[in-house]
Amino acid sequence: MKYLIDTANIGMIEKCNDLLPIAGVTSNPSIIKKEGKIDFFNHFKKIRQIIGSAKTLHMQILAQDSEGIIKEAHTILENVDKNVFIKVPATPQGLKAIRLLKQENIGVTATAVYTKTQGLMAMEAGADYIAPYFNRMENLDIDAADTIADFAEMIAVYGYETQILAASFKNIAQVNTAFKCGAQTATVAPDILLAAFAVPSIQKAVDDFDADWQETFGDISICDLK
Ligand code: E4P
Repeated sequence: MKYLIDTANIGMIEKCNDLLPIAGVTSNPSIIKKEGKIDFFNHFKKIRQIIGSAKTLHMQILAQDSEGIIKEAHTILENVDKNVFIKVPATPQGLKAIRLLKQENIGVTATAVYTKTQGLMAMEAGADYIAPYFNRMENLDIDAADTIADFAEMIAVYGYETQILAASFKNIAQVNTAFKCGAQTATVAPDILLAAFAVPSIQKAVDDFDADWQETFGDISICDLK
């Protein structure tokens, strides 16, 4: 079970990477839009510097034809680094590009997955990750939990190496459901992840422990007792 963060915000990536056990960073053009007209390649090189080489970085292409997708993928790999996972929408042209990119041993994340067929075909095309859009599916009355459970079952039955990278969440309960249904990984906006720790009872528990300690030992720390 791995958490990635769905953002291109450098400050947030630094903060989450420092505090939380995150496994990587994902982005898409709409996420990048929030950062403005960034110095694209240098921005993502900086993200790589922050997260290091052991974590995964997923960047999306824009082209809609297989040839253009492959060209953009190579441009990203040459200008950021060769370990970036290229996010390719699971369209028919995207599926062709995924097959060709995998022949070159390039890491691929099939994205914009709303239907079982898209996900299953992306697995068959060799995608390393498939990204079912949990909340967007629910908005369309598509059963996201059932879809993810079916993907997990097919991965187990047929031995695909593809991992489910569940995406598009509006709350942390959806993330938990995705994991419960068999998603190995999920990418979550930092504000949704951090909100899970903003329950007032959590800080109150910590403050109560502190108050009880102070009443017992006064203003000295555990380290002062040695
Ligand atoms: C992954 O990076 C997806 O593109 C992303 O989670 C989509 O999220 P949204 O539905 O909130 O735009």
